[in-house]
Amino acid sequence: NRRVTVRDLALAKERGEKWPMLTAYDAMTASVFDEAGIPVILVGDSMGNCHLGYETTVPVTMDEMTMLTAAVVRGTSRGLIVADLPFGSYQEGEVQALRSATRLVKEAGAQAVKIEGGERSADRIGLLARSGIPVMAHVGLTPQSVHAMGYRVQGRGEEAAAQLMRDAKAAQDAGAFALVLEMVPAPVAAEVTRALQIPTVGIGAGSECDAQVLVWTDMAGLTPGKLPRFVKQYAALRSVLGDAARAFAEDVTTGTFPAAEHSYE
Ligand code: KIV
Ligand code: NA
Repeated sequence: NRRVTVRDLALAKERGEKWPMLTAYDAMTASVFDEAGIPVILVGDSMGNCHLGYETTVPVTMDEMTMLTAAVVRGTSRGLIVADLPFGSYQEGEVQALRSATRLVKEAGAQAVKIEGGERSADRIGLLARSGIPVMAHVGLTPQSVHAMGYRVQGRGEEAAAQLMRDAKAAQDAGAFALVLEMVPAPVAAEVTRALQIPTVGIGAGSECDAQVLVWTDMAGLTPGKLPRFVKQYAALRSVLGDAARAFAEDVTTGTFPAAEHSYE
């Protein structure tokens, strides 16, 4: 009963086996996904939007990442836990990146970290990989750069597609064990997936990636408002939880709860 390893994921690519990844930000939710057999759980900096009430991922701190990663690790025993390096925790250079990644692995117990950028982050991917920290890279739409790039499809057009391929290869050559492709045209993601030896993990990147990831609150229907096209909702948790809260409130105000069976003699 050991955890999934990056070697298992490399073998899955060789065998042509696809795998799912979900985000989680707390021990209990993570334990549900772990029991459901989700092999890789990402403690994404999407916790900024989905868990901490920020508008973007930009404000997420190393303290927040470390605390919630430790919770996810405690709630799981089988999945590989990947923790995002938040904005500002690796931009200063290799030494800062190594210090941040080390904290997520050593203090929080993550087995791998994720970093945004291909070519632009290759030096840091290289140092982490050489230091024994498995690194997942993330290219295409990189939400930490929202103020520079917005939230829109990346890699459209010949030039942008060629840059995406260079980013993907730079990440692989630097030693990344996997690569997230976010919001890139399906044919471009397919070409990158074929060109790489390491697995690609798509989100809004079509069906030919080696793996797929979704933000858990999106796929479970907990996130309010209009969701991106790439999300599929597998449950309607927002209405289920809302109904439960309204039923509880009704029972309390009418004196129906607690009943005798919920009370002590
Ligand atoms: O933070 C996150 O949830 C992510 C995934 C969308 C890949 O980076
Ligand atoms: Na992220």
